[in-house]
Amino acid sequence: MVHTSEIVVIGGGVIGLVIAWRLSHNGHRVTVLERGQIGREASWAAAGMLAPHCELDQPDAFFELCQKSLEAYPAFISALKQETGYAIDYITNGTIFPALSDGDQQKLEIRYKRQKEAGLPVELLSAKASRRLEPNLSGHVQMALRYPADHQVENRDLIRALTQAIRQLGGIIHEGTAVKRILTDQSQVIGVQADSVSWETRHIVNATGSWARYLDGVPNTVRPPIRPVHGQILSLATGDAWPFRHTIYSSKTYLVPRSNGRLLIGATVEESGFRKEVTVEGILQLFHGALRLAPALRSYPFEATWSGLRPTTSDSLPILGPTAVKGLYLATGHYRNGILLAPITGDLMADMIENQSIPSLMKPFLPDRFYKPEHREV
Ligand code: FAD
Ligand code: GLY
Repeated sequence: MVHTSEIVVIGGGVIGLVIAWRLSHNGHRVTVLERGQIGREASWAAAGMLAPHCELDQPDAFFELCQKSLEAYPAFISALKQETGYAIDYITNGTIFPALSDGDQQKLEIRYKRQKEAGLPVELLSAKASRRLEPNLSGHVQMALRYPADHQVENRDLIRALTQAIRQLGGIIHEGTAVKRILTDQSQVIGVQADSVSWETRHIVNATGSWARYLDGVPNTVRPPIRPVHGQILSLATGDAWPFRHTIYSSKTYLVPRSNGRLLIGATVEESGFRKEVTVEGILQLFHGALRLAPALRSYPFEATWSGLRPTTSDSLPILGPTAVKGLYLATGHYRNGILLAPITGDLMADMIENQSIPSLMKPFLPDRFYKPEHREV
């Protein structure tokens, strides 16, 4: 069977969905092809932190991209809520990054000075002030940084709302449809081939996350050099007794409170290929890190564990933009920030596809940076 679609997005994670949503909004006929269930890979596993100020340390082009996306979030959430009527848990209480040792304190004080000089929204809290704001923090906290502009979202709500919004706009979503091959004619995209079905199209977005290099039918030079980085995560059932108002962040472990009575404890960062098991070692590491930050958590009921694969490049930056095959675009490699980067990725990709020109914010993230000889391998 052969279908046609103006634009085909391969991959129904947050990145494929947000691009499809933006394009559908602008009147394009879009089809999303998802191998499994919509949003059940990295985008489902994520903690939903929208936290560039605590997670990133360099005021570079990537930081600017993250900040722009963070700024776009309130309008993004309210548009999705308005369009679908769905609730989306979006919490704007900020992040606290505590120091639990002299070494931590030294690092955080340097970080504070640098971020303050750069005009970033950061506050320095004494131990007492930290525990006044968050009484469940460890008594070993020496001081903390507070990032009032860092937010968090329930990524699973986001996926559900994006899916509904796309359908309402007339977009088509096929689950259980694994794309095998991109079809081309003289270096121009003409379609995609799934098992027994194909789509004719002149525009394809490869948003297949950690699997983005495995679509056949294109030269090696347009296969993105992506690898998976495993993240294990778990949740406690906190009910109405929110143990924290803020997200609590440290370099190894973070705690993310949700309005639905869950506290997420994340996440491991492991190079284990496509293995996705939740391991004893991973869970021990998470519990150890969480109890160091907040010993009071030991009395909360354990709820669930899960894990996902973060799509990652050798420079840890996303890959966004056109390839040498006309009509084939890449949007992957969002690594630890794909939920944060969803709105800006949707905007930039839609702009690029519609206008066939590269927005300036996208330039540092173009696929061709990897196809210079020194960058061929991951
Ligand atoms: P995915 O969500 O993996 O989606 C790719 C989709 O493509 C999948 O659904 C897959 O089935 C589909 N696919 C693959 N091959 C094919 C094919 N051949 N045909 C059709 N479909 C195909 N980011 C943040 O911003 N904040 C966080 O706090 C955060 N925490 C995280 C915690 C963990 C434990 C993990 C694992 C990730 C976290 N991230 C976070 C990162 C974020 O989840 C990812 O960057 C983001 O979800 C990537 O989205 P994606 O759509 O590119 O990939
Ligand atoms: N950004 C959180 C994570 O990747 O674990």
